[in-house]
Amino acid sequence: MKATTFTFAIERSDPKSGEAPRVQQYEVEVTEGMTVLEALLRIQAELDGSLAFRYACRGAVCGSCAMLINGEVALACRTQVNGLWTDVISVGPIPNHRVLKDLVVDLGPFFDKDLAVEPWLQPADPPPESERLVVPDEWAEAEPYANCILCASCHGVCPVPERDPEYLGPAALAKHYRFLADPRDAADEERLALVDGEHGVSACDTVWKCVRVCPKGVPPTKGILATRERMETR
Ligand code: FES
Repeated sequence: MKATTFTFAIERSDPKSGEAPRVQQYEVEVTEGMTVLEALLRIQAELDGSLAFRYACRGAVCGSCAMLINGEVALACRTQVNGLWTDVISVGPIPNHRVLKDLVVDLGPFFDKDLAVEPWLQPADPPPESERLVVPDEWAEAEPYANCILCASCHGVCPVPERDPEYLGPAALAKHYRFLADPRDAADEERLALVDGEHGVSACDTVWKCVRVCPKGVPPTKGILATRERMETR
């Protein structure tokens, strides 16, 4: 298979070392269809074993490999190098998160926000003998929000966390709406109270960047606006 050489300009940093962040370049032979993640794995295996990045499934399912690729937040495992149409590929950590090392960021605060919206079903009736079924028509509103893989891409492109680090963010608010829209859930009032503060749905700038970047088609802004409407009409 024909290979072409690309330059990967990767943001390197190791805050624990005290060294200043830098950009390090690597020349990589890229074959047709190779993804950015595969290129990073090649760099790590053949050129520099100290390069740190995160991945697991390699198939756009686990959400581990979101990063900044040529200035756009994307999953490295589903971004083909040839499709980027540049000879020099810049790669950096996903914005709005603290960098731990190179392309690995601290997702702890992001997951804390997910937990803060109580992402579990809270029905009024006792558990049935088997599962709680829902008919497709009644599930349709919540369904797109259930596809979130917690990759944090939406949080990475959102303009709000930079000025308000406490902002719950598009991923958590989309998860919140997934349960608000679930016909089996009965905790609407309690749920609305969870996102009613200054760091909740009112903080959203409604720029729709989160909707455009989501690799799974989750529409956080739409859910945020629907939640605001519920608040106004309760
Ligand atoms: S490695 Fe799992 S989403 Fe990319």
